Amino acid sequence: MSHSPLTHSCAWQALTQHQQSLQDTQMQALFDDDPTRAEQFSLTCGELQLDYSKNLITDETRRLLLNLANTAQVSDAIAQLHQGAWRNQSEQRAVFHTALRDQSDNALMLDGQDVAPAIQKTRKQMRAICEAVHSGKWQGYDGQAITDVVHIGIGGSYLGPQLVTEALAPYATENIRCHFVADIDPMALAKTLQPLSSATTLFIICSKTFTTQETFLNADAARRWLLQRAPDEAASISKHFIAITSSPDKATAYGIAQNNILAFADWVGGRYSIWSAVGLSAALSIGMDNFEAFLAGAHEMDQHAQQAKPADNMPLMLALLGIWYRNFWGMPSQVLCPYAYGLRHLPNYIQQLDMESNGKRVTQQGEAVDYATAPISWGNTGSQGQHAFFQWLHQGTGVSPVDFIVPLQAHQKQHNAQHAALVANALAQSRALMCGQSAPEGEEHRNIPGNKPNNVLLCSKITPHTLGMLLSLYEHKTFIQSVVWQINSFDQWGVELGKRIAKEILPGLEGTQSDSLLNQIDSSTQRLVDDYRANNPSPQPSPLAGERGPDLSSKTD
Ligand code: F6P
Repeated sequence: MSHSPLTHSCAWQALTQHQQSLQDTQMQALFDDDPTRAEQFSLTCGELQLDYSKNLITDETRRLLLNLANTAQVSDAIAQLHQGAWRNQSEQRAVFHTALRDQSDNALMLDGQDVAPAIQKTRKQMRAICEAVHSGKWQGYDGQAITDVVHIGIGGSYLGPQLVTEALAPYATENIRCHFVADIDPMALAKTLQPLSSATTLFIICSKTFTTQETFLNADAARRWLLQRAPDEAASISKHFIAITSSPDKATAYGIAQNNILAFADWVGGRYSIWSAVGLSAALSIGMDNFEAFLAGAHEMDQHAQQAKPADNMPLMLALLGIWYRNFWGMPSQVLCPYAYGLRHLPNYIQQLDMESNGKRVTQQGEAVDYATAPISWGNTGSQGQHAFFQWLHQGTGVSPVDFIVPLQAHQKQHNAQHAALVANALAQSRALMCGQSAPEGEEHRNIPGNKPNNVLLCSKITPHTLGMLLSLYEHKTFIQSVVWQINSFDQWGVELGKRIAKEILPGLEGTQSDSLLNQIDSSTQRLVDDYRANNPSPQPSPLAGERGPDLSSKTD
C-alpha cells in the first residue's frame, strides 16, 4: 500500500515503531520508576494546570510527538492563524476568530484591512444592549422591562451561548433569565415559552447564514406567539426581536429593525463564533464586563499557544496526546468529563468543535487520507457519567482516553462538603482508570485491567476568565490536530448533504408534492414518508413555504 507523505514521514514511522515498544508498558510501573513523573508530565498556563502523567507515554514519546509537530510546522500554522493568514480553502474564506478576543490596541489586518474597528463597534453595541436591558430602559410593547431572553439558534449559533451562560450562572444578572431553543421539535419552543410573558420577553435570533431551517421555523413560531399577544406588529418586532448574523440583509428582509441587527464577519466559523456578537445572550446574562473577561481569558490562551515553548505548550500537548491515541493506538473515541455542573454542556460544545471541524477524509489538497482523523467525542458531567458509562471505561473491551476537568473551588462556599466529594470522585476515577484492580481466581468479574489513559485539567474556579481559557485551549487543540492531519477544520460539507435531502423530503410529508416520491428516493424512505402521512392525514404546509420565510438556498456557515 502506498503511503501519504504524512504516514511516510520519518516522524510518523518513528512513532509507529515506538508505540510497538510500549504495548506492554504499565503506567503504574512508570510511576514506580520515576517518583517525579507527575511533575515531569504537568503543565501550567495561567489558572489552568494540566496533569498528563497518567498517559501511556515516556520522555521518548513526548520527544517523538514534538518532532511530529515540528515536521508538520505547527508553530507556523498557529502564527498564521493569529495573523489572519490561515485560509478555509474549500470556501475561499479567511479564518480569524482569534481577532475577536484580541486585547491589544493594535490594528488587526486581514487582507489589507484593519478589522479591529468593526470588532470594537460590535462590542459597544453589545454593551449598549446589555445596559439598556439591565437598567430597564429597553421596554417591551406595554412599557415593562425585559425579564426573559429567548435565544434561538442551533449548532455554533447555540452551543456556545448556552454553555457560557450556564457555566457562568453564578455571575448572572438577577433580573434576567436566559433560555435557549435549538430543536425543531415544537415541544422545545412551546415548553420554553409556556411560563413566559410576551410583554417582557426578548428574542435573539442567532444564525450566521440566516437560512437555517430549524432556527427559522422556531423564529417564525416565536414571532406568531408574540404577535398573537402584542398590539402593533412592526413596533412589537422592534421591541422584542434582535438578530445576530453575518448576513444582515437577510435579517432586514426578515423584518428586524436596523438597530437590532448585530453583525459578525464571514471569517468567523459558526463553531468559533461565541467570541462575536453570538455571545450576546451570554453577555445579557453575565454582563458585558464579565463577557470581556471571558474574551481576555481566551486571548491569554492564544498568547500561550503562540509563545510557549513546544514542551510547555498546553494545547499542543493535548493535541499530540490525542493524535498518539487516535493514530498510533487506534482508539476510536475520546471522553470529556467535567466535574462541574456548570460545564454540563461542555461535552456537546466540544463535540461540535471537534467532530464538525475534524471529521474529514481528504487533505486540504483533496487527497484521501490514509490515517484516522477526529475521534468520536463524547462525555457528560463526571458525577452522571460515573453512574452510566464509566463501567464501560473500566471494564469494557474498548479504550477511550478521558479528559477530567476539575475546578478546585466551588462558587457555593456553604456547600464545601459536596464539592470535596465531587473532587474526590474525580481524582478517584483518574486513579482507578490507571490502576484498575486484580481479583482472586474465581472472581474474574472483579478484574479491572486499568492502564487507561487520562488527563486531569485543574482550574481554581470556573470564572469568565478561566472559561475563556478553557474553550480557547480546546479550539487550539482541534486546530493543531487539523494541521498535523492536513485537513480543513473550517468547512462542513457533510452537514450540508442532510440539509439538502431534508428540503427534498419536506414537500412529500406535507402532501404538497402529490406524486409518489419513488422516482427520486429509495423505497425505505418512501415507506417512512407514507407512515408519516398516515399519521398526519392533513399536514399543515411549513410556514417557510410562505412569503416571509428566509431563502433556504444552501449556503454554508
Ligand atoms: O451544523 C451545521 C451548521 O452549519 C453549523 O456549522 C452551524 O454552527 C449551524 O449549522 C448553524 O448555522 P447558522 O448559524 O448559519 O444558522
